[in-house]
Amino acid sequence: MRSTAGQRLAIDGGPRTRSIPFPAWPRVTERGRRALIDVLESGHWWQSGGGRAEALEEWLAAYHSTIGAVAVTNGTHALEVSLKALGIAPNSEVLVPALTFISTATAVTAIGAVPVPVDIDRDTLCIDQKDLKRKITQRSVAVVPVHLAGLPSDMSAIYELSRLESLLVIEDCAQAIGAEWKGRRVGSWGDVATISFQAAKLIAAGEGGAIIVRSDAELLERIRLLANCGRARGSKGYDHQLVGSNYRMTEFQAALILSQVDDFDDLCEVRAGAARALAQELLDRHLGIPTAVADQVTRMVWYMFVIRMTPSMLTRMTNVELAAALTAEGVPANPIYPPFYATGAYGGGQIEHSLRCPQAESAARELIWLHHSLLLDGERGVSDVVSALDKIDRQSTSWKLERRSG
Ligand SMILES: Cc1ncc(COP(=O)(O)O)c(C=O)c1O
Repeated sequence: MRSTAGQRLAIDGGPRTRSIPFPAWPRVTERGRRALIDVLESGHWWQSGGGRAEALEEWLAAYHSTIGAVAVTNGTHALEVSLKALGIAPNSEVLVPALTFISTATAVTAIGAVPVPVDIDRDTLCIDQKDLKRKITQRSVAVVPVHLAGLPSDMSAIYELSRLESLLVIEDCAQAIGAEWKGRRVGSWGDVATISFQAAKLIAAGEGGAIIVRSDAELLERIRLLANCGRARGSKGYDHQLVGSNYRMTEFQAALILSQVDDFDDLCEVRAGAARALAQELLDRHLGIPTAVADQVTRMVWYMFVIRMTPSMLTRMTNVELAAALTAEGVPANPIYPPFYATGAYGGGQIEHSLRCPQAESAARELIWLHHSLLLDGERGVSDVVSALDKIDRQSTSWKLERRSG
């Protein structure tokens, strides 16, 4: 950690802790460039049989040990198509963790069903098993566990509960490709699972998504039809067997994604090493509380590094202020999501008391998160994050008062 003793905070006009940017994300690699040019020059820009999107689907199915996968336009559509293919009926209830990117909930709304917010576990930030059981009603038909920030949900418990309560399981793996619960990859537990390849994700193509199907061949075929205007794979004519839409991934997206799979595990290792070191530093220096990683998590992929503010820091600033102060110091940070029901899209928090999720609400006030690209800078990156947090912690004793009077 570098000494910043006596320095003013960068947000108040002092010097920045870090003046160089963190590693850029998404990465531009020679392999990616070549992959895109190959598609450009081949003239096969869309899925016309035997191309990159099909190769990606094969890779995804093999990687997750499932029967198949379908490459689609983005993670939001992946959720919508999955829910449609599973036959979720209008007005039925789908259990969704309150703390997630809005698409997990809007996908449910988009198909006419009702997203029911389930609270998160305070330590792991994933769906809370007790609240999940409490929120099940006669109308519940499915649950969408989200592996938030790369942290796997308790998939063994969810799997058992789904059998007991006849719930379908759609795993939202947008933030967690490659993570494992009890030695088994997330994305291989649910009836289906969805992935996002949006620009910030661990494998990025600007936009892009995929649906993974565990074992049901008919379901896989229905998803293929829905994503391809109702046509079967390889059908060149106008044989539309059902009303679908065009959710096809382009060959450019698929090529760019495939260009990243060989490096993926190595980058995960780098992130994991930095995350371990950062977690230890934060604990040792009382600068924040890193997320707990359960013993059953055999692989964590660190899409985001989440920090819970200490009670002392919370008396001096909000998580919005801390994120702004860190960003000014050269360490980009953001407050975590609001519970989805607190957004304008879902009535701005006007929900029945019994549906509220207190842990998700306190997470929205107390947590910040750092993007995984910060973990790709190894020891230097960790040291800069710790220095910036330490500086803010020490200099902010009277900060709130100053800012209020200013
Ligand atoms: C948990 C979660 N679900 C769904 C999505 C939606 O994915 P996309 O942005 O590819 O539509 C995201 C993307 O940020 C996400 O983080």
